[in-house]
Amino acid sequence: TPRVFSGIQPSGGLTLGNYLGAMTRFVDWQERDIETIFCMVDLHAITVWQEPEALRRQTRELAAGFIASGLDPARSILFNQSQVPEHTQLAWIFNCVARMGWMQRMTQWKDKAGKNSQNASLGLFAYPALMAADILVYHATHVPVGEDQKQHVELTRDIAAKFNHDYGVDFFPETEPVIEGAATRVMSLRDGSRKMSKSDPSDMSRINLTDDADTIANKIRKARTDPEPLPSDAEGLAERPEARNLVNIYAALAGTDVAGVLADHGGQPFSVFKPALAELSVEKLAPISSEMARLMEQPDEIDAILSKGAEKARVIAAPVLKRTYEIVGMVGA
Ligand code: TYM
Repeated sequence: TPRVFSGIQPSGGLTLGNYLGAMTRFVDWQERDIETIFCMVDLHAITVWQEPEALRRQTRELAAGFIASGLDPARSILFNQSQVPEHTQLAWIFNCVARMGWMQRMTQWKDKAGKNSQNASLGLFAYPALMAADILVYHATHVPVGEDQKQHVELTRDIAAKFNHDYGVDFFPETEPVIEGAATRVMSLRDGSRKMSKSDPSDMSRINLTDDADTIANKIRKARTDPEPLPSDAEGLAERPEARNLVNIYAALAGTDVAGVLADHGGQPFSVFKPALAELSVEKLAPISSEMARLMEQPDEIDAILSKGAEKARVIAAPVLKRTYEIVGMVGA
């Protein structure tokens, strides 16, 4: 039976990239009545420095973002990673299965560690093994993510396969990355060759779910573009990364595709298209940000939802970890 798992780091506010590339996809899976498990991955967040108070606030804000986006704690398991210790326990086993060379090939490691990799945390290096544990401790089969996480989900398959092979078992399933929708890679508003990211130093590069209407409109107005009007078909976007990005965003927000957007807006200059995009963005995002703000007034309720979610998650994770320990040869498992 299919089981869906995914996670988001509470390492900053939620961006439009997270929302379109991940959150709206998560809601889709939940609506299909498939078992869905979603996690605030605080242990991943601390692979780079996080102020403790900020981490606490961002974790709650992320939970509020999940709920405000339509994830229902009664239908999906929503929880915080550090509240389910089985993730870290399985991650250790996977640290011993995965190879250094595999980790070194990860493009996110290369990007984040940069030239000064000797100074990166050991956790940042081992990050994909923890991610594999997140997924496999639930025997999850489908992992909805944006394009930037594809390599990590593929590594999860390699770790599962090597574990099964080394121990001569058929225990961990093959996991599929699911990368769907019109906005699997939302780009920076300042640079069409970089992805929109919560860690970009320029706030103008991204739309945050908590931005107010004026801020959203201003960021879209100032978004970098070329001077040409929109083309009439998708081919006309081939060499125009900034234009393509704005069209993709529009398509994802409107629930249509690129062809649909260009059928309505092809030929328009950006002075016409940008205000339309700003209006659509505000229409879709304002209800979410006001619901997030409302939920954040009751942090105790958020904490209660996360604790309940963690209990439900452990019911699934604990037996998988126990069986893993038995397979590996741990006395007392
Ligand atoms: P994170 O926190 O960077 O991003 C969360 C999700 O949002 C997607 N995403 C984007 N999609 C489209 N355009 C963008 N600009 C964009 N930016 C982010 C990401 O692809 C992701 O789906 N390692 C993961 C978190 C994680 C995880 C897991 C995911 C930990 N364990 C297990 C799946 C399964 C991460 O850092 O995502």
